[in-house]
Amino acid sequence: MKFVRFIMKNAALASVPKHIEHFSKFSPSPLSMKQFLDFGSINACEKTSFAFLRQELPVRLSNIMKEINLLPDRLLTTPSVQTVQSWYIQSLLEILEFLDKSPDDHKVLGEFVDTLVSIRNRHNEVVPTMAQGIIEYKEAFSHDTLTNLNTEYFLDRFYMSRISIRMLINQHTLIFDGTLNPIHPTTIGCIDPHCDVGDVVQDAFHSAKMLCEQYYLRSPDLILQEMCSKEKNHLTSIVYVPSHLYHMLFELFKNAMRATIETHDDSNNLPPIKVLVSLGDEDLSIKVSDKGGGVPFRKMENLFSYMYSTAPTPQIGERTRPPLAGFGYGLPISRLYAKYFQGDLQLYSMEGHGTEAVIYLKALSTDSIERLPVYNKTALKNYKVSQEADDWCIPSKEPLDLSRVKVPK
Ligand SMILES: Nc1ncnc2c1ncn2[C@@H]1O[C@H](COP(=O)(O)OP(=O)(O)OP(=O)(O)O)[C@@H](O)[C@H]1O
Ligand SMILES: [Mg+2]
Repeated sequence: MKFVRFIMKNAALASVPKHIEHFSKFSPSPLSMKQFLDFGSINACEKTSFAFLRQELPVRLSNIMKEINLLPDRLLTTPSVQTVQSWYIQSLLEILEFLDKSPDDHKVLGEFVDTLVSIRNRHNEVVPTMAQGIIEYKEAFSHDTLTNLNTEYFLDRFYMSRISIRMLINQHTLIFDGTLNPIHPTTIGCIDPHCDVGDVVQDAFHSAKMLCEQYYLRSPDLILQEMCSKEKNHLTSIVYVPSHLYHMLFELFKNAMRATIETHDDSNNLPPIKVLVSLGDEDLSIKVSDKGGGVPFRKMENLFSYMYSTAPTPQIGERTRPPLAGFGYGLPISRLYAKYFQGDLQLYSMEGHGTEAVIYLKALSTDSIERLPVYNKTALKNYKVSQEADDWCIPSKEPLDLSRVKVPK
């Protein structure tokens, strides 16, 4: 029996490249917020969602698995990246099992939900595991700027793909496991059709404040102002995923608090963190301003790079409490959450004064459509770029020795 299982497992593994090749030829289908809501509305059809996901999940997985395979060998072969890759392969195989099963069979639908839950759990540690692979690789080959650029490009797409896959899994499992969310009965899966942005700001601020007080024994206050251009509606609320918004705000608050405290080390009064929420016809924008001394302009472009952090690196596994800062993933991942539904996250800073971070979200649910990476020739080109000479002069560090310049007599 063991032998038969062994043979079957190997046969399944051998078929993986063929499946990836097949499914990566399809482009992922981005869903709009409205489509997400329709899947979860009163006449939600589990069969339709099942039929959609058993095709769409392999497409999204295969598209990004093609890109994993394009990583430089030295990175691809690190034990951590190998582990991540094996999780993707196993999850792909598990979903493919449902391709020839009947959507009319209740047992099949139940098994599908269970499979999705176990896939979600399997992938819980993808971010730190991938980060570990990158650390190992960078420690060994730190000066390879070209590979660093490719890695940043890859990680943005890889984590965005992951956010989207988890969104699909969460929606299906939350809507079709047959229970209501007792705390938020009006949410549809993880989407709140009336997400009150001010409430999420308060929640995220409160959590960051508690963490900050554990470290520094004090924390700055919050001043929140909400503005709305529409006359009838005084609430700054949108259709959104509160957990995504919470994630972005929590990261921005941790950064703003750390900067504020470290800059005002010897002062009794900490300048407050100001938040302005503004709802317009097209955008809902949230500005988080601190007076934490800012960041030099030269360093601005590093801030969204994975692994850039000015905090001491925390030890994975050894920490007893979550760190306030340290991995350098706060800003880049938050920006991905903002971009996922066609928004953005930008940072403006004045060294010596402070920083303003602005989250831009779409005010209308019809504009909130998933932004997904697709594997195609353009993507492929980005992994194949070769190091070319800079077309701007590089200033010399040494002053020019003018005595060597010959003057014709
Ligand atoms: N509001 C701010 N004021 C000053 N510096 C900032 C601010 N926000 C970010 N930074 C700088 O940007 C760096 C990167 O921020 P990011 O949130 O991505 O990572 P981190 O805070 O170091 O670690 P973590 O992954 O735990 O968030 C920080 O280490 C800090 O030097
Ligand atoms: Mg941070």
